[in-house]
Amino acid sequence: MTGPTDVKPTVLIVDDEAAPRAALTQILRNNFQVLTAENARAAMAVLNDHGVDLVTLDLRLPDRSGAELLTEIKRAHAEIEVIMVTAYGTLQSAMDCIRQGAAGFLLKPFNATELLTISLQTTQKKQRLDMLREWLASDKDLWGPEPACTEAWHKLAAAYGSRFKQGILQNTDAGEPSPLLQLLSDLLEAKDRHLVNHGNRVSFYASLVANRMQLSLPEQNILSLGALAHDLDLIHIPAKPVLQQETDRSSHRTDLGARIGRALGLPADAVQIIALHHERWDGTGYPFGLQGQRIPLPARITTLAQAFDHLTAERSGTTPLTVKAALDEIERQAGTAFDPALTEIFCRAMREQPPQA
Ligand SMILES: [Fe+2]
Repeated sequence: MTGPTDVKPTVLIVDDEAAPRAALTQILRNNFQVLTAENARAAMAVLNDHGVDLVTLDLRLPDRSGAELLTEIKRAHAEIEVIMVTAYGTLQSAMDCIRQGAAGFLLKPFNATELLTISLQTTQKKQRLDMLREWLASDKDLWGPEPACTEAWHKLAAAYGSRFKQGILQNTDAGEPSPLLQLLSDLLEAKDRHLVNHGNRVSFYASLVANRMQLSLPEQNILSLGALAHDLDLIHIPAKPVLQQETDRSSHRTDLGARIGRALGLPADAVQIIALHHERWDGTGYPFGLQGQRIPLPARITTLAQAFDHLTAERSGTTPLTVKAALDEIERQAGTAFDPALTEIFCRAMREQPPQA
């Protein structure tokens, strides 16, 4: 398990030009062990031979594009964090790289403080994720029967929290989320970054609706938390790719997700979202076949929000729908899958404030 930060993390600087390599080395050397590579082939050789925590990656390399190398790094070493550094960046290339798993994006000429801050924050996040990955893989009680299960989650949360408080995982920004929110987010990301991205988007869409409906602030906060955590059960199931599980009914164990949520101290109404977001308005959903307004409102909102994200998000093997086509499809299922009145509010909110592509 990753120990305290008395050992400096290792960064690999990938850039074909000597001057930026020297500048990056200068900025990072006090806080990192620094390795360098001039091209993609040399970079992969270093990554295969050394334990590297962070890569700063130039978008233009002599032997292949930085974006291609990013994909290869993520395929071979999914846990290594990558920050793109480029003089040729555009918003589009930044978004493409983030979608492919880059942790951040910086434009040359870079600001030294900004570069150091993002590098430190990214390696701190990696320490948190490494700790969780190892814990999730090794503690079988987390997935077993009670009472050992809840006890195991308490232990995990306490260990995570104590590192958090000791400053090993310290936040540098006063606007950072609460430890519980951070833990939920890290648990999802430790499993698969698509899972945390999905959770964040669903939470955002659900919040738009909650805002439209003028729910109270505590109600909005609980909805936002439960929507983020709605697929918490998927941090366990190892057999299929997460994106496939996400839409595959037989893969879901909402009871397990709810149990984890409860053990971690989520409010009861947020746990209910995890447990009931696969119910359908017409009573044909699961796990209980609840019908209509017997399904709690926050779960009904989350069902809509996650269906919308399934239709619009990029995922391997499917072409995402446009917002318009996705909303048409959602409306087609009003009264069967979804609460009709809520569908109207949701679609109006999305049409008036469409998510960024
Ligand atoms: Fe989902």
